[in-house]
Amino acid sequence: MRGIVYTGEGVEVTDELEVRAPGPNEVRVRIQAAGVCHSDLSVINGTIPFPAPAVLGHEGAGVVESVGDAVRSVKPGDHVVIATLASCGACRACSTGHPTWCKSSLGNISTPFTFKGEPASNFAAASVFSETTIVSEVQAVRIPKDIPLTSACLIGCGVLTGVGAVLNRAKAKPGDTAAVFGVGGVGLNVIQGLRISGATRIVAVDTVAAKEDLGAAADSRSVASRGPSTASAIPPCCAARWTASTGAATPSPSGSRRGVPRWRST
Ligand SMILES: NC(=O)c1ccc[n+]([C@@H]2O[C@H](COP(=O)([O-])OP(=O)(O)OC[C@H]3O[C@@H](n4cnc5c(N)ncnc54)[C@H](O)[C@@H]3O)[C@@H](O)[C@H]2O)c1
Ligand SMILES: [Zn+2]
Ligand SMILES: [Zn+2]
Repeated sequence: MRGIVYTGEGVEVTDELEVRAPGPNEVRVRIQAAGVCHSDLSVINGTIPFPAPAVLGHEGAGVVESVGDAVRSVKPGDHVVIATLASCGACRACSTGHPTWCKSSLGNISTPFTFKGEPASNFAAASVFSETTIVSEVQAVRIPKDIPLTSACLIGCGVLTGVGAVLNRAKAKPGDTAAVFGVGGVGLNVIQGLRISGATRIVAVDTVAAKEDLGAAADSRSVASRGPSTASAIPPCCAARWTASTGAATPSPSGSRRGVPRWRST
């Protein structure tokens, strides 16, 4: 089986990968699409220490290939997005609506793979840079078959992280002004979350000039800073006059896309 493995010294694209059969509560998924999150790169360059060998990738979607005896929520042929948090579903945190606090979700490294015959770890409980992977049932989230898997895979990390940070942590409200640092996988989804929340002024800042167009397409006023601090890009941007180019002057309380004006500098 083909896959991408962190070897401890770098990364190797290999055909010498195998994955075991699913246990009673596990699902085997044939990966059809995967995104590259910066955290995968941070494992490769040593920023995130991780035991090697490990099969990388944690933002993926695919088709269920086989399931364990106790699995009820998905069946072979279902389309699924892989979630990286393998919460147990039974502890106090899980049963009080806080699955991300579940201790089973944290640091749960296992070795469902072999690489050149030796045990290899999963990464972020997912390992989607592999033709096939094994996840627990709670991580295989069924989606309608008409959603392109190339889009669905992004929900696995970038969308949840970016939109979740806005809705659950920052708790942005209609009319808010917000600055987003970094217009990458997470940052673009922070912009999406801010639009959903009804934020009316979104300033996106990146050090790479080419990201200005991406930020603007996602409906932020985006700026690139090459100065010593990207924070220094914010004041002149906010000091410029803002006008609404479309829609109402105030966003709808529901924060619906339709009611959110698009702000452009004049
Ligand atoms: N749940 C989580 O904890 C979680 C999930 C996803 C990503 N992450 C982390 O979030 C970070 C972003 O991930 P990503 O996948 O969006 O990365 P990315 O590489 O797609 O995007 C990062 C962006 O930040 C820009 N940037 C770099 N330095 C900057 C600076 N000083 N000021 C402004 N912009 C700057 C880059 O040019 C790039 O456009 C990474 O550190 C990643 O490991 C954490
Ligand atoms: Zn990630
Ligand atoms: Zn739990």
